[in-house]
Amino acid sequence: ETKNIIGIAGSLRQESLNKYLLQFMADEEYEGLNIQIESLEEIPLFNADLETGGDPGPVARWKQKLKKADGILIVTPEYSHGTPGVLKNALDWAGSMTNENVLYHKPVMLAGATPTRMGTGFSQAQLRQTLAACDAYPLQQPQIFIAQAHKLIENGKVTDEKTADFLKKAAASFREWIVQLEK
Ligand code: FNR
Repeated sequence: ETKNIIGIAGSLRQESLNKYLLQFMADEEYEGLNIQIESLEEIPLFNADLETGGDPGPVARWKQKLKKADGILIVTPEYSHGTPGVLKNALDWAGSMTNENVLYHKPVMLAGATPTRMGTGFSQAQLRQTLAACDAYPLQQPQIFIAQAHKLIENGKVTDEKTADFLKKAAASFREWIVQLEK
């Protein structure tokens, strides 16, 4: 049966390579996966004082969606060799136990795009630490590092066939990971 995935991008800008990559993956309609994109735009800065008496509206709604999802796809840039604050901030809300850690035992797939020759490896390594702390279950392999992404993603679409094929295989691995964890 179809697994419902919440897709989030770690960049907020309009022309984001990572947003394009996420949108492309959602549009591909991979077999057995339905990817619904949720923006982090409305998520406020984390403040534990705001958690008392329930999470703020946008956070509560977003966390509810994560909780209900079969898995999470995170597509993120790397900023200063680390995870963008926007994304880390959102994960701090999601993983906070004050109300509910909705990342608990949640299958996650990571991906990242960068115009540099690196591949968002530092960003994803930090993310894996955070996800481990929240007891989430990130897929180990394949790892999706899209370097020199501006040459592979043009006019908002993944135009490189090898990359598109790799992403399709990764999506199949993610679905398999979710199915295995459900057993
Ligand atoms: C970057 N960029 C960057 N790239 C990289 O590969 N490693 C890095 O450490 C950084 N650091 C960094 C810091 C800051 C503050 C910015 C704004 C950018 C470049 C980055 O990969 C590039 O701007 C991407 O296009 C950002 O992702 P989106 O917005 O296109 O998804």
